Amino acid sequence: MENTKIKTFNINTDKYGKLIPLEGNDTIPFDIKRVYYIYEVEENVRRGFHSHKELEQVLICVHGSVKILVKTPKEEEIITLDDPKKGLYIGPDVWREMYDFKDGAVLLVLASDHYDKKDYIRKYKNYEKYYKEKK
Ligand code: TYD
Repeated sequence: MENTKIKTFNINTDKYGKLIPLEGNDTIPFDIKRVYYIYEVEENVRRGFHSHKELEQVLICVHGSVKILVKTPKEEEIITLDDPKKGLYIGPDVWREMYDFKDGAVLLVLASDHYDKKDYIRKYKNYEKYYKEKK
């Protein structure tokens, strides 16, 4: 789907365990300016419900599993993140919702910019309008 992509990272496995390195402008297709993680989310909670005008992100479920709905006025897709070697890239102008946080899910998010409230569109109707005017 447009502006989204599933990435599979290389794992360094040895007798001591597994290690995945992530580097900005390399494995991650932008300069990483912010990192946050979401955890201890009750199973009946659905969150997100926004799009970004400029921000790019990569979402990685480093423990447990979570479902991500990504959506535009044209198409939608549900991606299950349940493996620390999988990352979901989400670029600008994509609506997202996160739900079904299971098994102690920890969702790590790498972002291309600092937190900026003005970059968010939090109402689906406004997002649809913005999307249609832009495309
Ligand atoms: P929120 O945007 O509601 O999370 P999501 O949409 O991913 O479910 O963020 C929850 C709270 O955390 C809200 O008060 C804003 C704050 N916050 C920051 O202060 N910095 C950040 O980088 C993020 C992502 C959120």
